[in-house]
Amino acid sequence: MSSIVLDVNNMLATNLDGRGIDPAVLEGGLAARFKDAQEVFERMREDGSLGFLDLPYAHETARQVQELADGFGQWFEDLVVLGIGGSALGTSCLRDALLGPLWNERDGEDRDHFPRIHILDNVDPTTISPFLERIDLRRSLFNVVSKSGSTAETMAQFLVVSGLLNEELGEDQARGHLLFTTSQDSGALRQIADATGIPSLPVPENVGGRFSVLSPVGLLPAAVTGIDITELLAGAAEMEERCRSPELLENPAGLIATLLHSAATELGMPIHVMMPYSDRLRSFALWFQQIWAESLGKIREKGDEELHIGPTPLPAVGTTDQHSQLQLFMEGPRDKVVFFVAVEETPDPVAIPELHPEMPGLSYLGGHTLGELLGAARRATTEALRQRGRPSMTLEVEELTAHTLGGLFMLFEVATVFAGALYGVDPLSQPGVELGKELTYGLLGREGYPAPTIGTGDPRWRV
Ligand code: PA5
Repeated sequence: MSSIVLDVNNMLATNLDGRGIDPAVLEGGLAARFKDAQEVFERMREDGSLGFLDLPYAHETARQVQELADGFGQWFEDLVVLGIGGSALGTSCLRDALLGPLWNERDGEDRDHFPRIHILDNVDPTTISPFLERIDLRRSLFNVVSKSGSTAETMAQFLVVSGLLNEELGEDQARGHLLFTTSQDSGALRQIADATGIPSLPVPENVGGRFSVLSPVGLLPAAVTGIDITELLAGAAEMEERCRSPELLENPAGLIATLLHSAATELGMPIHVMMPYSDRLRSFALWFQQIWAESLGKIREKGDEELHIGPTPLPAVGTTDQHSQLQLFMEGPRDKVVFFVAVEETPDPVAIPELHPEMPGLSYLGGHTLGELLGAARRATTEALRQRGRPSMTLEVEELTAHTLGGLFMLFEVATVFAGALYGVDPLSQPGVELGKELTYGLLGREGYPAPTIGTGDPRWRV
């Protein structure tokens, strides 16, 4: 049995007191609908627009990345990723899932002398300033990640860091602390790399930011921190093959896309909650949020009409959000599907001691482990939702490794493209994001971008 299993029982009407999807419809109409989506997908694969599908097989690129990472040896103590959106979120998943949330707190020996890793995915000066004051620039490598080589936030981070490096180390030495991951032939980073010899890694032109974690965007930080990138890609390749089938019931990505699309458009459930029961997958819920939102939230033209399409992804984490959002999922509007991710890890290192046998409110916990509590809470929550006729699905992951994480990335990337075909939108573009970028350029005086007039509004409505 594969180490990633998708269980969709709790999406079905038979398990939800008639409120879910009829199994006969799943096997009939939805399976046929998926076949059409799968054909659209295959045409996109053939015309070369789905470059992310090739990444698990790009062994030569992986070899170059590993060689570059090995070349840094153990000199750098801190790896700092400068990037945003698709250039940062996947790397956060790699760090949190595979190195663990406390990686940066460990001492060098405990990290096998691999560097700490920091991902500066914003330009808030109250974060950036103390951070840059704290790290030792002489022992830091800055990986500037921007496919376009033009995103204002990343370029500003780069300029700030370059200024500091030049000041402290001089321009010549400063170059040895920079590494670009960017387009092969356009953008400011490419120009600087070509002119100065700063090393650079390519983001393939047919791989968009949010689909790029298995390209050098994620591979380089992974390799530098000791993550097994060969296993990451092997897991992705295995999943890519599993997701090729035109048979809905054999295709996990197809099931995710088809069931969530049907829930959104036919059952009035457009809010898709991603709820892993694992702190190490918190960032994965944020990565899912981006790929689902930026890929599927689109305008679709229908005759003269403009339809505003797209489900709303909502990140959560168990058990924490049982004490925050679950009340809403359980009794609020019936507009949500909860997507659980269960990580079945053994051994579980934290046993709960058998103290206070006289107190029934505590004694039942003694002798169990924290992992058992986490698992029981997830199963109980799934069942509670089911009893209220509220749909969910569960992805069971045997163990969180580079292999399975590679599989998870690929599973949801493929599911996103299937969902794009089902919604009738282009999942690879992000025209709505571009307008905000252009207005920012205008406000900051970039050549070629007129300064926009920002409505100041009526002071009466400012209280
Ligand atoms: O998924 C996307 O395309 C976006 O989220 C981009 O990754 C983000 O806007 C950053 O773009 P870039 O890598 O060009 O700096």
